[in-house]
Amino acid sequence: MGVLRQLLFGKYLLITNTVSCGLMMAAGDVIQQRSEHWKKNCSHKYFPSSVIAASPENEEMTTISDTSVYGHDYMRTRNMTVVGLLQGPFHHWFYTILDKVFPGRNAKSVLKKTLLDQSIASPTCLAIFFIGLGILESRKIEEICKEVKLKFCDTWKVDCCFWPPTQCVNFLFVPLHYRVLYTNAMTMVYDIFLSYIKYDAHFE
Ligand SMILES: *[C@@H]1O[C@H](CO)[C@@H](O)[C@H](O)[C@H]1NC(C)=O
Ligand SMILES: *[C@@H]1O[C@H](CO)[C@@H](O)[C@H](O)[C@H]1NC(C)=O
Repeated sequence: MGVLRQLLFGKYLLITNTVSCGLMMAAGDVIQQRSEHWKKNCSHKYFPSSVIAASPENEEMTTISDTSVYGHDYMRTRNMTVVGLLQGPFHHWFYTILDKVFPGRNAKSVLKKTLLDQSIASPTCLAIFFIGLGILESRKIEEICKEVKLKFCDTWKVDCCFWPPTQCVNFLFVPLHYRVLYTNAMTMVYDIFLSYIKYDAHFE
């Protein structure tokens, strides 16, 4: 237990945080890809009325997609993992500095930390996410800027609705021993959303 604790909270914290950021991003993307597949190819199984209403040609099409096997896009998960790993050290250093500048867990310092988190850390992590993926896809700078313009604001708004309440629950209700687990689980949920925004959401 001592070794594990040292590994999780001691001098290896930077590595632990970075690896878990990468892993949560990978897990989030795997779940999102599964759900995209389900939405496109399998959902009619559970909503038979749409099959009955469909014309014969459509029925034929659904039969074809019925037999389609799930092909996971490993390149996509790999790219997501890379940007997750890039976010890790930033997160780690940001929170280390934050805890030094605003020590303690009184309401005032928690509020300040939350505000700085949402106004500095979140936009930075989103920038790492969109720009990092854009570079991996070897897109042009203008294309990356276009995507950031299109998706950044809405994503950040969701971020602001998601993280402060999540951290509030973490702080008020989650026992100390489970906080790391809870934070990782919520990060994964948020990363499912990021994967959706990046690859499946339609913006106009
Ligand atoms: C759905 O099935 C088709 C084949 O009918 C396949 O080409 C496509 O990749 C599948 N969609 C997903 C999201 O896996
Ligand atoms: C992932 O990155 C590779 C190169 O690093 C790129 O060729 C590929 O298009 C990217 N895939 C996705 C789905 O972003």
